[in-house]
Amino acid sequence: MRALEIPLSSELEKLAAAGLTRQRRRLDSPVNPHVTVAGQKMLLFASNDYLGLAAHPDIIAALSKGARDWGVGSGASHLVSGHLEAHETLEQRLAEFTGFERCLTFSTGYLANLAVTPTLAAGRDDAIFADRLNHASLIDAAQLSRARQHRYPHGDMAALERLLSKSAAKTKVIVSDAVFSMDGDLAPLPDLFRLAERFDAWLVIDDAHGFGVLGAEGRGSLACCGIRPHPRILLMATLGKAAGVGGAFVAGSKLAIEYLLQKARSYIFTTAQPPAIAVAATKSLEIIQADEARRAHLQALIRQLRAGCAALPWRLLPSVTAIQPLMLGENDKALALSRQLWRRGLWVAAIRPPTVPPGTARLRISLSAAHREEDVAKLLHALRELAAGN
Ligand SMILES: Cc1ncc(COP(=O)(O)O)c(C=O)c1O
Repeated sequence: MRALEIPLSSELEKLAAAGLTRQRRRLDSPVNPHVTVAGQKMLLFASNDYLGLAAHPDIIAALSKGARDWGVGSGASHLVSGHLEAHETLEQRLAEFTGFERCLTFSTGYLANLAVTPTLAAGRDDAIFADRLNHASLIDAAQLSRARQHRYPHGDMAALERLLSKSAAKTKVIVSDAVFSMDGDLAPLPDLFRLAERFDAWLVIDDAHGFGVLGAEGRGSLACCGIRPHPRILLMATLGKAAGVGGAFVAGSKLAIEYLLQKARSYIFTTAQPPAIAVAATKSLEIIQADEARRAHLQALIRQLRAGCAALPWRLLPSVTAIQPLMLGENDKALALSRQLWRRGLWVAAIRPPTVPPGTARLRISLSAAHREEDVAKLLHALRELAAGN
């Protein structure tokens, strides 16, 4: 080992000693509830393909046609020469769908989040107010800004109100996940909006896990909570989860979106997503809007899982979304249960720190409209047996 590598190696050893080493598992089949992993058939409860669209034949066909019509690469960033009609069509459809005036598309949700908060609140006179359980990409985004950072306890509106009332910042930005990715709970969106109005703040909402799943026609968490598009709201959502494709968008007023287009570094200094992906996402949006049966089936599966988990010794966190976390507490317990399920052909991810706070390791059961009732019954049966043996 070279001297240069010694600190890396000791850090990796520390991770291993704390039971925090992560592993990638290679799928040998498309993302579906029934996948093959190293020759073994597994029932998957670990993806974010909430509507079961990741291998939908119409979206595959749209992607192939998109590649034939537009080629593979976009060749440049949007502001240089990489902005194709395929991107613009997706932007327009997303604006119509969300009800916001305008949208920008990004290659990933991570990049989309990096574009918003540090661009709105860039200077030392500005302030960012973020829920403590916000997704890593929102936390990283805030760190790119010179603004003062305030993190309030998860969902604590009284704490947020106190912070806002004490702040003399020039520009205030409140940032929150809509559906928290490891807990599955919904942010108090109406309260967040009321506070944003009262303190004249921007409200940045990351709806990665609500878009497509919640609200009429899958319009997302804001629609689900009855919050209409408003110039002080910027909505981000990914297209790689319920939409089953990849990429993301930010929606807002014409002016706010123009501002991001001119100033957001993670929009300006990166190659535009392949146009065929935009064509596929446009098709996915059509299906999301039309196929209410997928959402109804997903909700039925959620009810089935929650009813079946009630008798288990582990607590299921309150969640109306496809994310259903089973709380184990210690890292070892979560890992052991995940491994025992794996041996029975059931793939449920164990989530440990630093993704979640220490002492709150859990199994993140993730449901998809592509699951059948018997798939959920199989998982419940295994959990009951393992609980009895513990
Ligand atoms: C809440 C949240 N925001 C943003 C992202 C990033 O989106 P993407 O995977 O498209 O980069 C994720 C997950 O990946 C997420 O869970």
